[in-house]
Amino acid sequence: MNQTPKVVLLTGASGGLGTAIAKHLSQNNYKVYGTSRKKQTSQYYIWVPMDLSDKISIEQAINIVMYKENRIDILINNAGIGITGSVEETAIDDLKKVFEVNFFGTVRMIQKVLPIMRQQQSGTIINISSIAGYTGLPFRGYYSATKSAVMRMSEALSSEVQQFNIKVLDIAPGDFQTNIAAGRLYTEARDDSPYYTDYKRILKMIDDEVESGLKPDVLGQKITKILNLKHPKLRYNIGLFMQRLTPYLLCVLPGRFFEKLILNHYKMRK
Ligand SMILES: NC(=O)c1ccc[n+]([C@@H]2O[C@H](COP(=O)([O-])OP(=O)(O)OC[C@H]3O[C@@H](n4cnc5c(N)ncnc54)[C@H](OP(=O)(O)O)[C@@H]3O)[C@@H](O)[C@H]2O)c1
Repeated sequence: MNQTPKVVLLTGASGGLGTAIAKHLSQNNYKVYGTSRKKQTSQYYIWVPMDLSDKISIEQAINIVMYKENRIDILINNAGIGITGSVEETAIDDLKKVFEVNFFGTVRMIQKVLPIMRQQQSGTIINISSIAGYTGLPFRGYYSATKSAVMRMSEALSSEVQQFNIKVLDIAPGDFQTNIAAGRLYTEARDDSPYYTDYKRILKMIDDEVESGLKPDVLGQKITKILNLKHPKLRYNIGLFMQRLTPYLLCVLPGRFFEKLILNHYKMRK
């Protein structure tokens, strides 16, 4: 017997991971409403305009889905942007922009969708963080900070809403082949900066790592499988083996030892 499709609200559906998530869910009997700022036409989702840094547009997007479906079974907070630059030289305004999208935008979505899910007495919220959220990586410290913030908030939220039959999952991807570099905020690498040499080299390494990452389909398939589980875990790390190892190494290795591994990996002076 055909089941009524579950209604998914997915942010950032126009990007690499979002589109792959929409593709696999739509092929598995989910009805996907996908958001982005730029207009999209897709066979995998019904496009809904939404800018995460604009709370009115968030309300409007949720209203559109509720008007059409009168329910939201699954919220996937996937939209996000990157930022690179040293801790010292990154402009506070850029830092605020990234927190606005990656953290406050995610929080705004959750705060608007939760009353609907509580009313339904069911729902699943998936927050897409990053393996970079487990530790501060050089020249990506502020990106790591936004994703750590998402992780900590997800843990608290999960324990608060279990009583309403709402599941919260944190999914931390490693590197995936997407266009995330194109939307990143870059602090300019100035010639007179004391960080110039390291920053230039590491920027290239960061881009190469994204380009040699996993295909977005891997994440789409995995999320589809996770959504079928009766008792999903609180967190999933999805990426290349060495990236998935990071959270475990952080638990067992002394801090300075782990830091040495990072310095060696990025060929930084000690
Ligand atoms: N790719 C990786 O290696 C990787 C690794 C770990 C975690 N992640 C996380 O995975 C998520 C998806 O990343 P991706 O690699 O697929 O990046 P992407 O290709 O750049 O896609 C980003 C998506 O977010 C949307 N977006 C950006 N700013 C927005 C805003 N202000 N309001 C609403 N939507 C906005 C974009 O749509 P519009 O620009 O059209 O609005 C786009 O759909 C992000 O949270 C990212 O941090 C990615």
